[in-house]
Amino acid sequence: MTRGMRAAPGPFLIIVAGIISAGSSPAGMAATETVQPGATDDFRAAYATPQDVAEGKRLADASCARCHGQIGISTAKGVPHLAGQRAVYLHIELQAYKSGTRGKNMMADAAKFLSDDALVKVAAYYASLDPAPPVPAATTRPAAAATNPVSAGKAASASCAGCHGETGISKIPGMPSLVGLDPKYLVAALKGYKNGQRKHGMMQAFVAGLGETDVNNISLFYAAQKAAKAQTPAPGNLAAGKTAAAACAACHGEAGVGTGTAPGLAGQDAQYLVAAMAAYKDGSRADPIMKGPAASTSDAVAKDLAAYYASLEPQQPRISKTLTTADWAQRCDRCHGINGNSTDPRLPALAAQRLDYLEMVLDAYRTGARKSPAMAAMSTVLTEASVKDIAAYYSRQKARAVVYVVLPAGK
Ligand code: HEC
Ligand code: HEC
Ligand code: HEC
Ligand code: HEC
Repeated sequence: MTRGMRAAPGPFLIIVAGIISAGSSPAGMAATETVQPGATDDFRAAYATPQDVAEGKRLADASCARCHGQIGISTAKGVPHLAGQRAVYLHIELQAYKSGTRGKNMMADAAKFLSDDALVKVAAYYASLDPAPPVPAATTRPAAAATNPVSAGKAASASCAGCHGETGISKIPGMPSLVGLDPKYLVAALKGYKNGQRKHGMMQAFVAGLGETDVNNISLFYAAQKAAKAQTPAPGNLAAGKTAAAACAACHGEAGVGTGTAPGLAGQDAQYLVAAMAAYKDGSRADPIMKGPAASTSDAVAKDLAAYYASLEPQQPRISKTLTTADWAQRCDRCHGINGNSTDPRLPALAAQRLDYLEMVLDAYRTGARKSPAMAAMSTVLTEASVKDIAAYYSRQKARAVVYVVLPAGK
């Protein structure tokens, strides 16, 4: 037996770290079912014979080792480890390089002239090798270093507190409260000032220097604050305002909490609300939806509406939690196996893979350069920062070897 090769490959069944995995059960748990060799062509690499593996080794030594390492453990940047990777996955990817669907790169050249039979054997050989040791934690960036957007938003909004209140609750008549508002509305409002669509010289000056990340973080910060009514006077007729508010409820909610793109009005500073209605009415705040309701509201009724809305309790908007690396890993592990140790021969193991390679391929999925229907849902929500954290996480996990077990013939 060669160095790095632990068990005699045989037909029927492969085991990953004690979990028996029949090829057709993605969860790897419905364990004992076996697939006859040759029953499905797609699984050929998982049921390779010792002879196949020996032939695969000869091929690998001749054509692959100079990049992927003598025993499938790569020392070259951008070149993945192949040792211990799942057999069927390796075969699928080699086919993808050969047909060109995984890009025109050095791998496409390496796979181009190999027969499918050769690809099966070389895949089986690499799957049979001991995986690489995990990347030491000290060399990767700790997940805790990732910035929390809410704390970043708090820091970025320090200069806003004087007018909008320390936690977004207005204490000055005419200054809007920023609590109880959907972060998407806040982002749109801030962008509106930045691009001049929403005209207000002072606010435009305050937001001019904010970058896109600041805008997002600040909006999340205010949305995450405990919502409470503005601490400002509301002089109108509350009962009359309540009656008039029937015309607004369809969009702004029965209790003024906002729906869809219509912002919450509950607990809003009364003077600001009157000013906003006037601005929609005279067109200085151009909005096709609010133009109509504002036009049919007299200044007196606006004051009553303001008193009514100011009396209502605002509610903290629902914000989607920013996922931690552990939250992410839980999602990824559903397909890639616990700690990235895939138990399905078709799905790649991620544990102990090279950090630079993981970062590179996750970015490729994120930007669409590498396409996979299974990975698409995951990749669209990954950010640059989360890619770095998740890649570091998986590179640090201990990889478990694939064990080929020879079953008695005739089973
Ligand atoms: C010239 C260097 C080079 C040679 C020779 C080479 N590879 Fe690669 N291989 C790479 C690089 C670089 C990548 C990553 C490319 C990418 O991003 O798609 C890769 C990726 C792969 C992958 C995808 C791994 C994964 O986790 O998705 C497989 C499988 C693979 N190589 C197998 C082989 C086999 C088998 C041979 C020999 C027949 C071989 N390679 C020869 C450089 C090489
Ligand atoms: C000097 C006082 C002042 C400062 C400082 C200030 N704002 Fe404002 N802000 C206002 C006023 C007044 C308005 C109402 C403008 C209008 O009518 O469009 C407003 C409006 C807003 C709105 C729109 C609210 C809504 O309900 O549509 C947002 C969001 C906002 N400010 C965020 C900020 C942020 C973030 C900062 C700090 C970077 C900031 N403001 C700094 C006075 C201020
Ligand atoms: C057809 C839906 C709809 C109806 C009806 C409606 N609104 Fe609006 N309202 C919106 C939308 C959408 C916005 C956000 C517009 C923008 O970004 O400027 C808005 C914004 C506002 C704002 C600005 C809030 C802020 O924080 O700056 C006020 C005030 C307001 N509406 C009051 C009213 C009142 C009072 C009525 C009833 C007389 C009413 N609206 C009826 C959809 C509606
Ligand atoms: C629904 C199942 C599924 C989920 C969930 C999933 N993946 Fe994948 N993943 C796949 C499949 C299938 C492939 C192979 C796709 C291909 O050929 O490009 C893959 C490929 C990958 C690869 C490339 C491996 C290599 O060696 O080149 C990485 C890295 C990866 N996934 C990471 C993740 C991460 C991180 C998550 C969670 C954020 C995740 N995946 C969630 C199914 C999934």
